[in-house]
Amino acid sequence: MKKNKISKNWINKQRRDIYVRKSKIEGYRSRAIYKLKEIDEKFKILKEVVSVIDLGAAPGSWSQYFSQKIQNGKILAIDLLEFEKINKVEQLIGDFTEETYKQKIREYFNKKVDLVVSDMAVNTTGNKNLDSIVTGELCMEAMSFAKNQLNHKGKFISKLFMGTSFNEIVSEAKNIFKDVRVFKPLSSRKDSKENFIICKILR
Ligand SMILES: C[S@@+](CC[C@H](N)C(=O)[O-])C[C@H]1O[C@@H](n2cnc3c(N)ncnc32)[C@H](O)[C@@H]1O
Repeated sequence: MKKNKISKNWINKQRRDIYVRKSKIEGYRSRAIYKLKEIDEKFKILKEVVSVIDLGAAPGSWSQYFSQKIQNGKILAIDLLEFEKINKVEQLIGDFTEETYKQKIREYFNKKVDLVVSDMAVNTTGNKNLDSIVTGELCMEAMSFAKNQLNHKGKFISKLFMGTSFNEIVSEAKNIFKDVRVFKPLSSRKDSKENFIICKILR
C-alpha cells in the first residue's frame, strides 16, 4: 500500500475513534490514556506509589495521569521525541536503551522506585511480526532495567505484542516477579496485537 494511502486510512480511523475524541474533550494528549486508566482500575497500579519512571512517554498522556494522581511524588518521563512540558514531571529526551540515559534516570531518583511503566513502541513498519519483535526487545530491556530500579513491592507495566517473543517475555517476567498478568484493555485497538503485562512484587 502506498504511504499516502496508509496515512489517509490512519486519519480516517482516528476520526471515527471514540477514544481519540474523548481524549481531546478531557484534555489528554493521546488516546493511550484510556488503556492506562483501564489497567489502573483493574490492577490498582498506583496504590502506595509515589515514584514513577515513564518510558516512551511522548506525547505524554500517561505522565499527565500520574501527575494528576500522585501528590508529593517524583515522576520522570523519557522519550526519543520532544514533548510539551507536564506539571510535576521531570522530562528527558533521548534513547532509553543507551546507558547514559539509564544513568541519568538513576541519578534523578538516587533510590529505588515504586513503579516503572513502558508504553515504548517503534514506528510501525506495517510488518506485524517485525513490529512485535522490536517492541518485544524494548519490553525486555525495560523489564531488566525495572528489576534493578524497583523496590521489593515495586510494579512494572509494559506494552507487549502477541508474537514470537510473547511467551519468552512472560516467562522471564515470572522469573522476576511474583504476580504476572497479561491484559488487553477494551480501548486497545481490536486489530492490534498489543497487550500489556502487569507485574508486581520482586521475587
Ligand atoms: C505509543 S507512544 C507512547 C504514548 C504515551 N504512553 C502517552 O500516553 O502519550 C510510544 C513512544 O515510545 C517512544 N520510544 C520508542 N523507543 C524508545 C526508546 N528507545 N527510548 C525512548 N522512547 C522510545 C516513541 O518515540 C513513542 O513516542
